[in-house]
Amino acid sequence: MGLDKLVIHGGKPLEGTILINGAKNSALVLLAGALLAPEESVITNVPNLADVGVISEVLTRIGVRVHMDLAAHTVRVDAADLTDTPPPYDLVTKMRASFFILGPILARLGYARIPLPGGCSIGSRPVDLHLKGLRSLGAKITIEHGYVEAQADKLIGGPVYLDYPSVGATETIMMAACLAEGTTVIDNCAQEPEIVDLAEMLVKMGAKISGAGTQTITVEGVRRLNGTAHECIPDRIEAGTFMVAAAVTRGRLKLTRVRADHMQAVISKLQEAGVGIQVEANGDIVVDGTGEFHPIDLRTLPYPGFPTDLQSQLMTFLSLVPGTSMVTETVFENRFMHVDELQRMGGNIKTEGNCAVIQGVENLTGAPVKATDLRAGAAMILAGLAARGETVVSNVHHIDRGYEDIVGKLSAVGAQISRLHRAEALV
Ligand code: UD1
Repeated sequence: MGLDKLVIHGGKPLEGTILINGAKNSALVLLAGALLAPEESVITNVPNLADVGVISEVLTRIGVRVHMDLAAHTVRVDAADLTDTPPPYDLVTKMRASFFILGPILARLGYARIPLPGGCSIGSRPVDLHLKGLRSLGAKITIEHGYVEAQADKLIGGPVYLDYPSVGATETIMMAACLAEGTTVIDNCAQEPEIVDLAEMLVKMGAKISGAGTQTITVEGVRRLNGTAHECIPDRIEAGTFMVAAAVTRGRLKLTRVRADHMQAVISKLQEAGVGIQVEANGDIVVDGTGEFHPIDLRTLPYPGFPTDLQSQLMTFLSLVPGTSMVTETVFENRFMHVDELQRMGGNIKTEGNCAVIQGVENLTGAPVKATDLRAGAAMILAGLAARGETVVSNVHHIDRGYEDIVGKLSAVGAQISRLHRAEALV
């Protein structure tokens, strides 16, 4: 799997309709949220992704019954027999989102021991805000031998101020607060659509949560939650990636089963750059990349700002927009690894700290490049779709973490893209 490669022959305008899958970042936290009830929950519209496989494996190792039918995009989670057995270090370090189980296990069992997720390629990504929040709810937390150990006979609600609106920390604290005694008020919390999705599922499970989607979430603790059924929201990052695919190939794509209201920043920045975007009455988004493009300045920010998870894809696009564009990354400290790879394909980009200045070029040219992380990998596919000649993207396992059947979806709208499996890729 790790040695698979994608081979792309670029230059074909993409035309057709693409169905958007459920959001990876929602699915992962919804599966963890289901641990809060000692009953089965059914989550639908779950994307068929490597990361979903990892979290399911983590859940299985802690006594949870997981039934995945990913062909039907449905996962059943029954945490009646949840244990506080620490999940294996290798699994947790494979995917940072495994850390989501900390809050629910602590809230249900009063004790949790989870390996620290550690760094990752896009920055050091600490978990201090998750822990600060849990401490505010009365948990005693120690870090020893690479594990976080959290203990609280009873979590007690209270005020939590987040120094930064971290998505993961907001989710951890919101989940734990559901079963705390009294009221928790999380200030300066994240407002991402995935937070609202999680809150909606928890409310169906019996939680009392208000304010999700604003800067302040209030959670009134209850004694017990029940199982429920919940459908994941569409993946706004997958949708944004395909919007850029239409733009860079000067094609026309319709995206279906999307939520345009989750994508305002992306839609406006692409429109500002000259990409035609229409939201149809039924919610479908039509993207027209045949117009004239203009350079733009872009800054990543917490929601409702422009998402960091689409920064690298936009950089591919801006590499092909005449004039000078600027991208400032404010969310993660080390998220420009795609720049070197884009330069291998003829991109003209200079970076200084967290800013990149992009001088648009007329063409990118195919080259062997690496997917250095999930979204940087998506940016390489986009570059390959636009470039003249052949691009070979290696380290495809990163891309498999977040894009369901990307080869099938792109092929169906006219891309020349194929996957070389490990054995073929070695020759
Ligand atoms: C989530 C998304 C990820 C997205 C990111 C920002 C999931 C599974 N992943 O990641 O795709 O790129 O939101 O939109 O939902 N930070 C701290 N201390 C903490 C936690 C975070 O300093 O305790 C910092 C991080 O280092 C980073 C910033 O806060 O610089 C944002 O991180 P956060 O919002 O927590 O991202 P994740 O939840 O990890």
